[in-house]
Amino acid sequence: MLWVQRPEPTRWRSYGGNEIISPEWKLSMDLSGAWQRAARGAMLLGEGGALKPTIFAEMSALALSTGAINLGQGFPDEDGPAEVLEAARQAISDGVNQYPPGIGFPVLREAISAHQKRFYDLAPDPDREVVVTAGATEALAATILALIDTGDEVVTFEPFYDSYAAMIALSGAVHRTVALRAPYFQPDHDDLRHAVSDRTRIILINSPHNPTGAMMGRETLELIVELAHKHDAIIVTDEVYEHLTFGQTHVPIATLPGAWDRTVTISSGGKTFSTTGWKVGWMTGPSDLLQAILAVKQFLTYVNAAPFQPAIAVGLGLPGAFFEGVAGVLQQKRDLLSAGLSLAGFTVSESQASYFVVADALPLGFADAAELCRHLPELTGVVAVPISAFVNDENKSGYASLVRFAFCKKVEVLERASAQLAGLAR
Ligand SMILES: Cc1ncc(COP(=O)(O)O)c(C=O)c1O
Repeated sequence: MLWVQRPEPTRWRSYGGNEIISPEWKLSMDLSGAWQRAARGAMLLGEGGALKPTIFAEMSALALSTGAINLGQGFPDEDGPAEVLEAARQAISDGVNQYPPGIGFPVLREAISAHQKRFYDLAPDPDREVVVTAGATEALAATILALIDTGDEVVTFEPFYDSYAAMIALSGAVHRTVALRAPYFQPDHDDLRHAVSDRTRIILINSPHNPTGAMMGRETLELIVELAHKHDAIIVTDEVYEHLTFGQTHVPIATLPGAWDRTVTISSGGKTFSTTGWKVGWMTGPSDLLQAILAVKQFLTYVNAAPFQPAIAVGLGLPGAFFEGVAGVLQQKRDLLSAGLSLAGFTVSESQASYFVVADALPLGFADAAELCRHLPELTGVVAVPISAFVNDENKSGYASLVRFAFCKKVEVLERASAQLAGLAR
């Protein structure tokens, strides 16, 4: 008889994403392959070409080994709406357990289209202009791999979400960045004009922004559309935090005049519905662009998450009060943690959206946030990540003392973290 040990419930708790490579793993440098491009792009090739763990893996391991509160990673520690969870259970019971269609179940594509209409007055055709993906991550990967020819340029803002750099490098593209500087993290328009050229294939934007919590102003969005037209570039926009905004309404760039025809809009249900492990994402855009991306996407995962697709459709159809409630609760959590960080002696940037707030450790005497984060668990019992992890090596000095804290955690956890962080001020 084969005994299968039942895992303890706590073993199923999320450790968050981005820790595929354990700190203990050693990958041989002699093993050549495309992985090296991806790893180099994501700044994970260490001395002699060894694969380094991501900062998230390193910090999560530290949180586990020290028992510290993990404010390093962006995953909620509370469940999302009961209706959505129940819909997934029901779908499994109803036998929704086999491959869905390649572009996703109609019920979800129709819900995505209706959501775009309800919130943004966009009306993507659910059969031709909506594709369901394995999270926003797969949509980003498939888009970049599908649209890039070797040597093309991709412009992103910096700091950037780590998967962008890995995929850009894997695709053989050149990564150009435009700096977002503290405390407001808005790009300089001349820098942006300078970065985009006829070599630019994709302008990849992320608003609301991880890791800074900034939202891109309308004038910047307009300039991006203008530059995309001028240089015949495609706009790719990552909007996974679209509903997690604090007072300001999210403006999808696809709603701007002249944008739709050259824009791929990417989002997912993970953040909005606290279901980051379900990996239900999507992209909307003109069908010729989506067809090209689908040619790659179908050989990445083909399809995913059958029973979760109708459940996310339920979520997208929830009343406005749900969406306001999610943002409102998160805003209170932002306020709570931001106040705690200020009291502890950090200079705190006001987060306009997302799960994250940036705090400058310089007033506390810490010029190197990466070093501080390695010691933060022993100093305060809290884990956070340095912003420099989201910045290319040559630009790290401009962000050296900045730390990202996640506030998508229970109120009591944030209260405890704030009290512990206060020890830094003493
Ligand atoms: C900016 C950004 N884009 C994409 C993702 C990944 O989204 P998903 O889990 O839907 O793949 C994340 C997750 O942290 C993110 O912060």
